[in-house]
Amino acid sequence: METRTETWKDSIGADLDRILFTEEQIKQKVVEIGREITRDYRGRRPLLVGILNGCFPFIADLARSIREYVEVDFMSVSSYGGGLQSGGVVRILKDLNQGIQGRNVILVEDIIDTGLTARYLLDNLLTRRPASLELCALLDKSEARAEVVPIRYVGFECPHEFVVGYGLDYNGLYRNLPCVGVLKPEAMG
Ligand code: IMP
Repeated sequence: METRTETWKDSIGADLDRILFTEEQIKQKVVEIGREITRDYRGRRPLLVGILNGCFPFIADLARSIREYVEVDFMSVSSYGGGLQSGGVVRILKDLNQGIQGRNVILVEDIIDTGLTARYLLDNLLTRRPASLELCALLDKSEARAEVVPIRYVGFECPHEFVVGYGLDYNGLYRNLPCVGVLKPEAMG
């Protein structure tokens, strides 16, 4: 059967210089993380907190890979600075719909780059007294790290390059690519 990645090759997928993580690799990895979370959180009804917008494919697939009761909530943040780099100053645009005191919270991020966003969010959520708080990220760009952030569940180590797809965008585009890749320079012009 033709994969979704193949059907994308003739459309926006043509803007990719190369694919780093295929749809199949991602699918497999998300199932593995889901299995781990199922095992670690048995009977603890974790609350997955997704950081919009980049988390949406990941959290949707991850939640469906967890064979336990889970709840899902979202936050949206903006980091000043713009461009390809996050600026480190984080502002909450949309907060959680519920309190998290006593809850087992898993923060779900698309990618940890400098770690500034995750550090801010972890510190912020800790003040709300969850029973536990862990970080889950599909991609870890550890070379770019400026803040120490312990990632409990990680999908792939990501090279220190700007990547798009599976939720990650460039100027709002490419989030709907089923794989993760690097854009051709002309697509970033
Ligand atoms: P950090 O605060 O530097 O860790 O940045 C985290 C956020 O920056 C992510 O949630 C993404 O929204 C964005 N980001 C970092 N690296 C990339 C990338 O390579 N492609 C797309 N977005 C990225």
